[in-house]
Amino acid sequence: MYDAAARERMREDVRSGLSRPQKEIPPVYFYDERGSELFEEITRQPEYYLTETERRLLRRHMPAWTREIGTRALVELGAGNADKTRVILDAMVESGTGELYVPVDVSADFLEATVARLAGEYPTLAVRAAVADMTRPVEIRVPLPEPAIFALLGSTLGNFEEHAAVELLSRVARKMRPGDRLLLGVDLRKEAARIQAAYNDAAGVTALFNRNVLRVMNRELGADFAPDSFVHHAFYDPTEGRIEMHLVSDRAQTVHVPGAGSFSFEKGETIRTEISAKYDRAGVEGLFSTADLSLSRWAEDEDGLYAIVLAISREPG
Ligand code: AVI
Repeated sequence: MYDAAARERMREDVRSGLSRPQKEIPPVYFYDERGSELFEEITRQPEYYLTETERRLLRRHMPAWTREIGTRALVELGAGNADKTRVILDAMVESGTGELYVPVDVSADFLEATVARLAGEYPTLAVRAAVADMTRPVEIRVPLPEPAIFALLGSTLGNFEEHAAVELLSRVARKMRPGDRLLLGVDLRKEAARIQAAYNDAAGVTALFNRNVLRVMNRELGADFAPDSFVHHAFYDPTEGRIEMHLVSDRAQTVHVPGAGSFSFEKGETIRTEISAKYDRAGVEGLFSTADLSLSRWAEDEDGLYAIVLAISREPG
């Protein structure tokens, strides 16, 4: 699953993350095969309104937006199983302009399955996957017909600290040509209880997803985390406008990570495993403007839970 170089990066991320006063493990390591399955299961929990609301918004707006743009290609950053993508691909096929779909994801396994499935379902579209970590420059090896949509859906942007979110958006902006668009899905700020429930589902799937990262560390790095001694804790911070997800050590203990070090935990000490920022329109416009993007369409659902947004690059490359 992880090659030697990726494992070394993981070891270094864990060494530096667990050496901070607030211990951290980056959320990118949630998504091994099991973690990706658990995330899929999260998206089906009744409390996790994000996925279904985004899907409804895409259904409602993509046919018109795709037609207006004359979209010839879709580049999807963090494609996963590309489920919602069908809504956009259908719109591209129906408008008669669609030619190419490029799913980009860290998980080669997921991509392989996605490509095989979608190539069969959309015989008129070329499907060319790119295995890449979107936090680093992504190279697309095929000529990209213009105009293209670069999609970053599922509120994935929220999992980045602000400076990293701006960096990611700027990188996309620099790739965009005059006719291209960024399509962004963002979870909106709202009543704390609603957001908090989405990260504390009654069935406990999010807790399993959170703890799974420790199993990944044990398997890939030979660490000796006892996953059951860490308790899932997710809370909404209304001042920051974000969820923080932690694993709380239920006892004093020391964990060994070969090649990275030994890390001691006091009872109640936590590892922060994820942030999930929530936005309002002004916040998104602010991020866009720092990243040299400019908002061209904003659509949210009737309850103001979630928004899909289009942007153009202010300095097309
Ligand atoms: C992938 N990402 C946008 C999810 C989120 O809502 O931040 C990951 C997640 N974490 C817990 N539940 C879902």
